[in-house]
Amino acid sequence: MSKATPAVQESTDKTQIAVPFLDLPAQFRSLKKEIDQALDPIFQSAGFISGPSVADFEKMFASYIGAEHCVALHSGTAALHLALMACGIGPGDEVITAANSFVATAEGIAFAGAKTVLVDAEPHFFNIDTTKIEAAITERTKAIIPVHLYGQPANMAEIHRIAKKHGLKVIEDACQAHGALYDGVKVGTLSDISCFSFYPGKNLGAAGEGGAVVSNNQELADKVRLLRDHGSKKKYEHEIVGHNFRLDTIQAAILKIKLPYLDGWNDARRKNAKFYKSELSKLEDVLLPEEADNCKHVFHLFVIRVKDRENLQKFLSVNQIQSGIHYPVPIHLQKAFSDLGYKEGDFPVSESLGKTVLSLPMFAEMTDVQLRHVVDCLIEYYGTVNSNGSGK
Ligand SMILES: Cc1ncc(COP(=O)(O)O)c(C=O)c1O
Repeated sequence: MSKATPAVQESTDKTQIAVPFLDLPAQFRSLKKEIDQALDPIFQSAGFISGPSVADFEKMFASYIGAEHCVALHSGTAALHLALMACGIGPGDEVITAANSFVATAEGIAFAGAKTVLVDAEPHFFNIDTTKIEAAITERTKAIIPVHLYGQPANMAEIHRIAKKHGLKVIEDACQAHGALYDGVKVGTLSDISCFSFYPGKNLGAAGEGGAVVSNNQELADKVRLLRDHGSKKKYEHEIVGHNFRLDTIQAAILKIKLPYLDGWNDARRKNAKFYKSELSKLEDVLLPEEADNCKHVFHLFVIRVKDRENLQKFLSVNQIQSGIHYPVPIHLQKAFSDLGYKEGDFPVSESLGKTVLSLPMFAEMTDVQLRHVVDCLIEYYGTVNSNGSGK
């Protein structure tokens, strides 16, 4: 069902080359005809909520991931929140996750009423350091949420070994890893229940907010379905107190159009990453992202580590190259989570990553000229002969 990646026009005038961090308008232009056709009937019928596209997309996404059930939701944050609620996790419970994740992972735990217990990242693959998980387990621990950060699967074999030993649920935060493989299997199918985001900039993104859970457990999927729609199966009959966390019909229709392109887009991202890696390996001041042998990384983000990030970002910006920082402040140092009682120095790897990570432009539609421009600017900045680590 894979569709080919649409062609993009290239400019060869160097002074004109601008490299956005991602180029959603380019993606939209390549799909405009399909999107226009899909939206018209939705407006004609005004079936904006729970229209047929929602159930269609759920079937398509479950089949793509290889899970039995998919429940489409309003966002990845809602997916985390409801996945935890469906697992019966709430006040008095503790949930372990990575200190360097996006804040939404901890927000999902907080909204479910449980306490976030953080574990440091490991520096090579940027995911939760599984050697430090067991020390964080207490009698109140109910679940581990591994985050497949930047599109790279976490060490799931080790996480499942620990979870099994301590009787814990595993809830994957796959919000950045649509289509990533662990031991040849798509992430999202490896655990009790898994969460995805379809925020526009994700590898599979809606034209607004969107998310989903996938699971092979009918009971958990049914519970999320109930919770997403006011605790109701039948109009005006409410079995439990729920939320309004539905995915709307327009977003489902857009996601249905985009899903068949996802594998092609992921391949394009991997090709871009390969080019970045081969060209930038010459620069000793740039630490490149690593890919675990048993994983297929889908490069939601291409994250390098550098010492002089601020200057480099300015230099890239002058050369019309956008970059990002994911994320500058780890969860334990966020004001919102100060009540967890952590302090600076508690998670040294996450803190060091916060100070050194830099995300380079990465999107499927990137042209060869754009990729070359990014690489040339980095080479110009550091200089191929500079070996003292100071850069320009
Ligand atoms: C790792 C991670 N978890 C959760 C989320 C939350 O997803 P959403 O923005 O759809 O609520 C995101 C989104 O950026 C994310 O990157």
